[in-house]
Amino acid sequence: MGSPVDNPDARGFFGSYGGRFVPEILVPAVEELDAAFEKATDDKSFISELNRVMRDFSGRPTPLTTAVRFAGAGESLTLELKREDLNHTGAHKINNTLGQVMLARRMAKRRIIAETGAGQHGVATATAAALFGLPCDVYMGVEDIGRQAPNVERMKLLGARVIPVDQGAGTLKDAVNEAMRNWVRNVEDTFYVLGSAVGPHPYPKMVRYFQSVIGHEAREQFQNRYGTLPDILLACVGGGSNAAGLFYPFLDDDIEMVGVEAGGEGSDPGQHGASLELGSPGIFHGSLSYVLQDEDGQIETAHSVSAGLDYPGVGPEHSHWLETGRVSYQRVSDSDALEATSRFAREEGILPALETAHALAWISQNAGLLAGRKVLMCLSGRGDKDMETLLEAGGVK
Ligand SMILES: Cc1ncc(COP(=O)(O)O)c(C=O)c1O
Repeated sequence: MGSPVDNPDARGFFGSYGGRFVPEILVPAVEELDAAFEKATDDKSFISELNRVMRDFSGRPTPLTTAVRFAGAGESLTLELKREDLNHTGAHKINNTLGQVMLARRMAKRRIIAETGAGQHGVATATAAALFGLPCDVYMGVEDIGRQAPNVERMKLLGARVIPVDQGAGTLKDAVNEAMRNWVRNVEDTFYVLGSAVGPHPYPKMVRYFQSVIGHEAREQFQNRYGTLPDILLACVGGGSNAAGLFYPFLDDDIEMVGVEAGGEGSDPGQHGASLELGSPGIFHGSLSYVLQDEDGQIETAHSVSAGLDYPGVGPEHSHWLETGRVSYQRVSDSDALEATSRFAREEGILPALETAHALAWISQNAGLLAGRKVLMCLSGRGDKDMETLLEAGGVK
């Protein structure tokens, strides 16, 4: 942590993407947030407290685990896994929520709100809010409440209120809409902890900053182990926070990067969550980025077996990386992700989150291409939360 922030331009644009498309009432709030974030990340005491909490509360640094079997790992290719699943609460989301809740406390905000899809961000926000003694409301779509029941109970145990959202498809998009609406009404005393590198400026920059601890640590760990950098980086992409966190510290290196989106059940509207591959630029949730939309600009429903990738938009920095060709984005289907989940668990002794399994499935599909190469992948979360979905899908394959 503590490296300089590589800012988008003053209007919040990464190249052609980003910005701050918010109702007038929120303009002072996002300006205040940007100023507070810049000041905090310039303040050694904030950084040292953040590093202490990441270490003593969340368990950082997370280890780098060498895969031993999956997709020819250990034989034809080298696969290193950055174990974000070993964070407190079981995913990378806690890196961002600890940072944002510490910022909320510094800004003297009295109430935390958040949205959640898979429930991981909701649990991580409820956890950080409990740690710092702040009340917390989490907006969650009714469809996601159904498929992520253990995380709903976890949030409640942590003292958060889970507010069901039954608009639209009852998934992440609708939860973000509702959280933003609540923020507009309570902007004076409420801090909105956004869960991915999406939303209006400064959220994409801020979330990527808090998540870049993944890439900073992994870079050092990889170099210590091999004396060199990886050949290729890999991460799943929902809103894009674990991918941005891994990629960011390697952007200036000659390393291939692949982001894996939700291919769902097909390429027709409503069947997938592949905003970068199958979407087009549009304004959604406060920024200009790739989004799934119809000809009239209406946002389409996304689909993924994994709640955390079931989102019709993506962070603007990824749109910039797509356009500049810095990162390539590809998609993996529900069934391939499910298959990779159980195979990876059997072959490596780690049950991955369904989101993460999209990146794992990409590795097995491209094992030939990866022969002889060193792969570094973000293992973004653990799969315990997905038990219900896995059992519904037929359990162990
Ligand atoms: C374990 C896990 N991985 C990945 C994601 C996708 O989010 P992002 O693209 O912001 O990393 C989620 C979202 O909930 C998640 O829970």
